[in-house]
Amino acid sequence: MKVLLLGSGGREHAIAWKLAQSPKLDKLYIAPGNAGMASVGEIVNISVNDFPAIAGFIFEKGIELVIVGPEDPLVNGVRNYLEADERLQGLMIVGPGKDGAILEGSKDFAKEFMFRHGIPTAKYVTVTPQNIDEGVDFLKSVQPPYVLKADGLAAGKGVLILDNLDEAIQELNSMLGGKFGKASARVVIEECLKGIEISVFAITDGINYRILGSAKDYKRIGENDEGLNTGGMGAVSPVPFADEEFNKRVEERVVRPTIEGFKKDGIDYKGFVFFGLMNDNGNPQVIEYNVRMGDPETEVVMPRLKSDLLDIMVATAKGELDKVPFEMDERTCTTVMMVSGGYPGDYEKGKVITGCDEVEESIPFHAGTKFNDRGEVVTNGGRVIAVSSFGQSMQEALAKSYANVAKISFEGAYYRRDIGKDLLKYCK
Ligand code: AMP
Ligand code: GLY
Repeated sequence: MKVLLLGSGGREHAIAWKLAQSPKLDKLYIAPGNAGMASVGEIVNISVNDFPAIAGFIFEKGIELVIVGPEDPLVNGVRNYLEADERLQGLMIVGPGKDGAILEGSKDFAKEFMFRHGIPTAKYVTVTPQNIDEGVDFLKSVQPPYVLKADGLAAGKGVLILDNLDEAIQELNSMLGGKFGKASARVVIEECLKGIEISVFAITDGINYRILGSAKDYKRIGENDEGLNTGGMGAVSPVPFADEEFNKRVEERVVRPTIEGFKKDGIDYKGFVFFGLMNDNGNPQVIEYNVRMGDPETEVVMPRLKSDLLDIMVATAKGELDKVPFEMDERTCTTVMMVSGGYPGDYEKGKVITGCDEVEESIPFHAGTKFNDRGEVVTNGGRVIAVSSFGQSMQEALAKSYANVAKISFEGAYYRRDIGKDLLKYCK
């Protein structure tokens, strides 16, 4: 089978790495990809949002299956675009259409969806310049901290959590005034949830679903969760505090009603669903939906998938997810992200990366890397390489990740040394 994967991060490297293990894969193209993915497929220089070029490439190469990694093209309607192309009849696509992707593209839509289908989530109000008063009343009625969210996609930066009421009112005005451009023309104000965050991943063909497990990521740049937010500095899967009872509640109260909700609303959702949850004393509450896998969570979830990912992707596209084997590895997988010095602020690119071939018993998933003119692998983004490892215990997995991180170097490299540390108390 000929497959095209869209994306260029560590998430897509992990998906590509897993697809490449399938005996049924004839050819894997990745657009635009990165240097690491060149060892598992052919890199194609097409942007994920250049739909005419993507459609032309699929037609020209006779591609049968497309897997969409990031949210942007999904929210922009890549599925709808490809489905409307008469040359591409029968093309299989993993990734929801616009009607499903709006679950990530609009926080207001996601909240309405959850309330409509009885899925546990924080109380909220959606505010536009026409009903600012309602927003202010809501802020006054809840306990701090105050949670303000830009309705639309804001590259992960559109959520503000503020301790002070006056500041919250001021920020509400500034968001509605265009702080995040069009994304904050509407603002969702939510009650602040208490508990520990955890993500759960599922794949659905619109009827059936399979749970890929839980993961925890580490969003802040600094140790002890200090400093600025990043795309994610490391991850652990499964999460040791997610016991059988909690997982059962997530499935019954969140995953199943979401898939049922798609059906009731007439959304033909074929793709990954990322449930961002708060574990409130064993009770899951949904913080957000994403319509894709997480990054770096994919770098710890994909290695745990024992079954053939290509079979699962084809079954997802065809609505036959109930007919293929699906098994997850019980062991823990951890990843530690190496980033460019200065990230998430300004940083330099083009630093030569060495040591990846010395890695043993870990998988170095590339994020922001490329080949330079001399054919060397160099840094090409803030997040550079995620080093993933298995262990019988979380500690063992982390020890392997850190031992291998130490072998990889590039000028200015930084990583957090405390990935998983907060979870030790939950480990047996
Ligand atoms: P989101 O983009 O919706 O995932 O929000 C970004 C981050 O803000 C989340 O990962 C949480 O850490 C935090 N957050 C969002 N909504 C809430 C909430 N209602 N209560 C507490 N924390 C929240
Ligand atoms: N690591 C968080 C995300 O992918 O959104």
